[in-house]
Amino acid sequence: MPMPWLPPRERRRWGNMVKIIINGAEHDAEEGKRLLLVFNEKGIRVPHLCFHHALTPAAACRLCVVEVKEKDQPIRTRLSCAIKVAKGMEITTESAMVHQMRNTAIGNLLKLAPHSEAIHKIGRDFGLTTGIIPDGCIRCRLCIRVCSEIIGAKALKMVKMEGRSYVSPSDKGECIGCLTCSNVCPTKAIRYEDDGNIRTVMIRDEIVGRHTLERCQICGKLYSTTKFLEHVRQVDADLPEEKEDHRHCPTCSKLYYRKKLKLTAPKLATLYGNKPVA
Ligand code: SF4
Ligand code: FES
Repeated sequence: MPMPWLPPRERRRWGNMVKIIINGAEHDAEEGKRLLLVFNEKGIRVPHLCFHHALTPAAACRLCVVEVKEKDQPIRTRLSCAIKVAKGMEITTESAMVHQMRNTAIGNLLKLAPHSEAIHKIGRDFGLTTGIIPDGCIRCRLCIRVCSEIIGAKALKMVKMEGRSYVSPSDKGECIGCLTCSNVCPTKAIRYEDDGNIRTVMIRDEIVGRHTLERCQICGKLYSTTKFLEHVRQVDADLPEEKEDHRHCPTCSKLYYRKKLKLTAPKLATLYGNKPVA
């Protein structure tokens, strides 16, 4: 791997080439060079998050820990971003102790940034224990139950991924964009976004449904998805006593059907100036 740009103050500290041992193999490296730079140069993989070659090390993430044996010294664990090459140094980049220390380090990092994909990825790449990325879902299944038992769309299900259960879009049912799941979700893990006349329902980065919104025929406001209106029409077909007209938004419906006000659809439309409301 080509050596990245390094500040002159860093290069000035380097001495002659010396022999060191990395994972049992002999290597040449400049005396005084940071071990992590040597690893990067030689393609030896060691996890690290807080090192930048142009800056002084902060030794903050503690992921780059390795075992080092220096002349007449016992084996010690050291941070490879901070420690510099010395003649005859013997380094082990993977051992039970190193693995344990990296697990502790990643656990501490995840306490600070539990949602960080970068930390979870480095954990996966190096076989460290990271647990799952929190998705805000408490697995109460209210969304699944309401979608199946009340709405009848069966758009959500539980799936197993890497030994954990997740709420996911179902392949049996179909989302109709009614937002009942989002409204009933106690943690708001199911989100939605209305962008112009398009509604998207999501959990994590998975799309549960994407729908076209319809305008209220009285006030012109976007108020419901086409699929939801179709669904209601189908349900109403089996219920002849239901005579509601679902082409109107809830507000206009309330006004329209309040007989005391004697407001008819044309009257209401005049009230709104016949202009669609955005
Ligand atoms: S998404 Fe919300 S409603 Fe569904 S199981 Fe998770 S917390 Fe419960
Ligand atoms: S790279 Fe973060 S402590 Fe070494």
